[in-house]
Amino acid sequence: MKFIGIDVGTSSIKALLVDSSGKVLASSNPEYPFQTPAPLQAETDPEVWWEATCKALKELLKDVKSESIAGIGLTGQMHGLVILDAHGQVLRPCIMWNDQRSFKECEEMTELLGEAEVLRLTGNPILAGFTAPKLRWVEKNEPEVFSKISKVLLPKDYIRYRLTGEFFSEVSDASGTSMLNVGERKWSDEILSGMGWSKDWLPELTESTIASTKISPDASSQTGLFIGTPVIAGGGDQAAQAVGCGIVREGMVSATLGTSGVVFAQSNQYRVEPEGKLHAFCHAVPGKWHLMGVMLSAAGSFQWYKNQLGREEQSIENGGGENAYEILTRSAEQVAVGCEGLVFLPYLSGERTPHPDPHARGAFVGLTLRHSKAHLTRAVLEGVSYGLKDSLSLMQELGIRPDKVILSGGGARSSLWKQMLADIFESPCSLVNAREGAAYGAALLASVGCDHFSSVEEASDSWIKETELVEISSNPSKYHKNYKIYQNLYPRLKESFRELSAE
Ligand code: XUL
Repeated sequence: MKFIGIDVGTSSIKALLVDSSGKVLASSNPEYPFQTPAPLQAETDPEVWWEATCKALKELLKDVKSESIAGIGLTGQMHGLVILDAHGQVLRPCIMWNDQRSFKECEEMTELLGEAEVLRLTGNPILAGFTAPKLRWVEKNEPEVFSKISKVLLPKDYIRYRLTGEFFSEVSDASGTSMLNVGERKWSDEILSGMGWSKDWLPELTESTIASTKISPDASSQTGLFIGTPVIAGGGDQAAQAVGCGIVREGMVSATLGTSGVVFAQSNQYRVEPEGKLHAFCHAVPGKWHLMGVMLSAAGSFQWYKNQLGREEQSIENGGGENAYEILTRSAEQVAVGCEGLVFLPYLSGERTPHPDPHARGAFVGLTLRHSKAHLTRAVLEGVSYGLKDSLSLMQELGIRPDKVILSGGGARSSLWKQMLADIFESPCSLVNAREGAAYGAALLASVGCDHFSSVEEASDSWIKETELVEISSNPSKYHKNYKIYQNLYPRLKESFRELSAE
């Protein structure tokens, strides 16, 4: 038995072929750009995802009989708005998760629907990254397009439509639309009627392991997949990523250091942070929820730093020498905890958790003549870790008590960063064998949807194993002073950030 996981990413499709023991047999990762037609905007033509999906699948199936594929699981970037007309044609490019144009619509909708009611129903405030304010933006700014809407889909569910001809979604991805009653796991009649939007626009919802649809003859000829192969509901990329590193039981927590940084906790009950600072979403484990903190620039801050201040290190790497990140982190290891009084704020693309503020900015605070480049490097790693700690602390306040935090993403390869996270979190951290992210989680969900396993927990126990444990060092309290200073800086600088953004 083999399974395929497909992740409709921001800049590429990732398709994985996985066998019944969880071993990755093949992968394909065609890339594509996304467009930024104006500041704060990010769009992609969904046709580009479809072409890349076909390419990835053909490559994956080169040496495999398509009849041997038991099922396909889908995952993808969350929150994107894909709108179709009555003939199933895409009406405009997808407005993506990282598009912030709808911040005014968020305020307008919150006022119209009531802040407390929105939090009660959807578990979250309406944020500019989410789907509903984008729909409102189209309603106001592109009324011609709006009047033709017949279906509203999320990115992976558009690919499901192209693969199967059917409209379905599932509760984990739907949680990021501001249109789901997250506690009851169904579309919110109150939000939809409050906005005057039709429920018929939205696809039917299932739990993540349901084999809701099958490969159509048309898709079979374009992808090489066998007609009738089950397509399993899948999950939003963060829920699938979490399933793919074993976050499937109450209180388990992961921290992912990708471009963005995510702290993710499973919760068996529906819990909401009283001010909505954490996302409260349905999990891809049926009947369960999750809490999530999202930092917009985590490893992305380090990448920005390397690109701007690590040119020398980059040219060593380009000349066949050591990896630029490794050279930078090696020098940062020589600097004392706390960087001799230097703090970095990682809000380079605004922030979501715990400060939902598109105007927030990055900063180095506390520079003196004594500070060297190595201090700056260490301050970036510490600042990003403090940002993740903010999300973890909010979860702990809600009663989530992990006995360790599972690390994933590119940043988790650095031994300095891993140790720093264990010390700043004041929790042991671990790594697992599965390193393929959301696509792997989607393949795991497919294995459950095809009844190879009886539950997501059983599949996870079989496929996912711990490979490394990082204990807390002897003196984690050394970080306390700078973390406190870090926490005080955003409220003090908020107004200045706003003024700077208005320039
Ligand atoms: C989650 C989020 C991102 C996108 C793109 O809330 O905004 O993870 O799903 O990866």
